[in-house]
Amino acid sequence: NWTMENFIEDKVKEIKEKVKPDERVLLGLSGGVDSSVTAALLSKAIGKRLTCVFVNHGLLRKNEVKEVIDTFKNFDLDFKYVDASNDFYKALAGVTEPEEKRKIIGKLFVETFRKEADKLGKIDYLAQGTIYPDVVESGLGGNSAKIKSHHNVGGLPKDIGFKGLVEPLRYLFKDEVRRTGLSLGLPESLVFRQPFPGPGLGIRIIGEVTAEKVKIVQDADYILREEIKNAGYDKQISQYYAALTNMKTVGVQGDGRSYDYAVVIRAVKTIDFMTAKPFDLPYSILTRIADRIVDEVDHVSRVFFDYTSKPPATIEME
Ligand code: XMP
Repeated sequence: NWTMENFIEDKVKEIKEKVKPDERVLLGLSGGVDSSVTAALLSKAIGKRLTCVFVNHGLLRKNEVKEVIDTFKNFDLDFKYVDASNDFYKALAGVTEPEEKRKIIGKLFVETFRKEADKLGKIDYLAQGTIYPDVVESGLGGNSAKIKSHHNVGGLPKDIGFKGLVEPLRYLFKDEVRRTGLSLGLPESLVFRQPFPGPGLGIRIIGEVTAEKVKIVQDADYILREEIKNAGYDKQISQYYAALTNMKTVGVQGDGRSYDYAVVIRAVKTIDFMTAKPFDLPYSILTRIADRIVDEVDHVSRVFFDYTSKPPATIEME
């Protein structure tokens, strides 16, 4: 019979069988729920033969680097931080097509892990926090059509030098991942953190990604998160964020004309992240968020709210 405890026990056993006593694993840790639960599970199975590498791809939220480092300082894990922002910005320059962006980010992640593995010496496996919806939406879950390439799905490029992948959560849905995390003793603040996609703000900036646009979307998103939290909605909304459109419009600023970007805010309610409904936020909160974003964030003169369900829209905006 299937229970969380059985699942953990089975996975630990499976990992121990796959990863031989003299072998080591490198895990791409983002600080999100999926990779953190993967870290806890692997650490239970193989202890210090696991090294967790946190790559900053320059597409993280405001303050996120510090928050993730601070969280994992408290765990008994071999944890390494790598700032690869400039490599990612360089690779993404001039690229506008969403699938192409995802592929570039995914490829660069693996290359960064490879480089770190070389510095660490012998690493046999690469571990990732892939979960079932990632597999389904990448068109690998049976009859499903390909919607988009999750950065972590589709296997390893050949000749990258790892013996294989370890993905213990590959058949779990998000709510099961959370239950696993709680059973493994991870803090609630981490387990109930809202999801943040692996390609990060790279898929919340429509069109070309630049360091300047990242800063705009980080600042707008920070305001949104602050207001949602202050209003007490953070636990009720499954996922909420600001995205940057590729659209500029005319506005007025002081006595002059402005020609600046439009930000979109999205807030959805969902159980399994396969379907979602827009969250009914009060008008007063939406207008407060919009006022603050245009006041406080340079180069933004309009804020829209996305009322679309999934399907037909996705939760992310790319
Ligand atoms: P979509 O946009 O497909 O998102 O409706 C469903 C859920 O998946 C997250 N998401 C990702 N997570 N890597 C991830 O780890 C990805 O490439 C990715 N794309 C989307 C999204 O944030 C939402 O929670």
